Amino acid sequence: MSPVLDPFGRLQLGGVSLAELVGEVGTPTYVYDVDAMAAGARELVAAFGDAPHLVAYAVKANTAGRVIRAMAGEGCGADVVSGAELRVALGCGIAPDRVVYSGVAKTDEELDEAIGCGPRGICAVQVESLEEIGRVEARARAASRRARVGIRVNPSLDLKGLTHASIATGHDEAKFGVPRVDFVRAVERIEASPHLELVGIGSHLGSQFMGEGQHLEAARMLFDFVRTMRGGGGAKSLAFVSVGGGFGVDYTGELADPLRPADFVTAVRTEQRGAGLDGLALVVEPGRSLVAPHAVLLAQVIQTKVAAVARWLMIDAGMNDLMRPALYQARHRIVPLVGAASGPAAVPWRVVGPVCESSDDFGEHLLPSDAPDAVAILDAGAYGYTMANRYNGRQLPVEAFLSGGRLVSSTRREPVDGWVADRLSAGC
Ligand SMILES: Cc1ncc(COP(=O)(O)O)c(C=O)c1O
Repeated sequence: MSPVLDPFGRLQLGGVSLAELVGEVGTPTYVYDVDAMAAGARELVAAFGDAPHLVAYAVKANTAGRVIRAMAGEGCGADVVSGAELRVALGCGIAPDRVVYSGVAKTDEELDEAIGCGPRGICAVQVESLEEIGRVEARARAASRRARVGIRVNPSLDLKGLTHASIATGHDEAKFGVPRVDFVRAVERIEASPHLELVGIGSHLGSQFMGEGQHLEAARMLFDFVRTMRGGGGAKSLAFVSVGGGFGVDYTGELADPLRPADFVTAVRTEQRGAGLDGLALVVEPGRSLVAPHAVLLAQVIQTKVAAVARWLMIDAGMNDLMRPALYQARHRIVPLVGAASGPAAVPWRVVGPVCESSDDFGEHLLPSDAPDAVAILDAGAYGYTMANRYNGRQLPVEAFLSGGRLVSSTRREPVDGWVADRLSAGC
């Protein structure tokens, strides 16, 4: 659940007062409501009813072991994009059979890990180009295995205005996916190889779509492909169709009735039934929608700076902790830990971090004119910690995990000394 104010005006997440938590875990700290994340996954899995399916949680959104284990506990598999993510997913108890692996330039070592794990390799290596098919085949031959592959098709949709350009992937200019016009050639190549088994086709359009229209269009294309392939006597081993992830999150908090991940599934399932393809498993790869809303990034105010042009609120979390605003102009709501953000005493503050970049800027927010001691950056559970870095020699943020109405664990804040020693010894 998103944070709520308790009767005393203190911000709470997962039943825990964030103002009290700051004293325990320090800042900057990501705080995750793991129970709420699990509940979202449960709701999504339930939306499939008895239909064959795989909810492959896109671990890139939030790679914390506790979060992935919670997803696995609700019946999710994993969508990974690197050998390291694959290892984390497997280490969290997700069976190889429930892992799909996308990525435009997987290395040979990564392919070997994916093809070689478990009795039959992972559920599907999702190839993203004709060229990759030959590489997967070579690695499968070397391992004396038959690799299960899916084709990630780029559906060439016009996605302008539907999401930010930097996170749209299912269009002509993107590096992702087998171009739609090459789909038949991809199928032929895979089906001609004794080392490959075509088990799925799919598409991933990008992230943060607020309506389901583009997913339905892509799904129709995929279902048409399946019917054409089957009409020609092919695709005998095809087991699934994937419509990827990308289900959006209401970062404004203002939408009366935002679509939920289950709504996307229900819409696509209707299309699938209409196409007469009920027997195929439907795969979805949600990341953001399962984890973003159930987390905050806690930061303390270091100082203010009031000038003619702006009132800056300078906090101890920066673009190295949460890159999304600097990377693609994302806007997260920012609220004080105690008291309401708006009200008669609220004024616009430009909230910025300490990093030496003008893009280290979280935007203008209404906050009390008496600067708060600490703030929470909302909806920070996806693509937050996973993109954090040590630019300017900054420490990585801490992650704190809430469950059952209490803090159950947190990571260690690594002292800055390690970075200093590493840099001092670099090249020496
Ligand atoms: C192949 C693939 N699937 C799923 C996702 C998850 O997208 P989202 O977090 O928007 O659901 C991504 C994100 O980049 C992806 O690349």
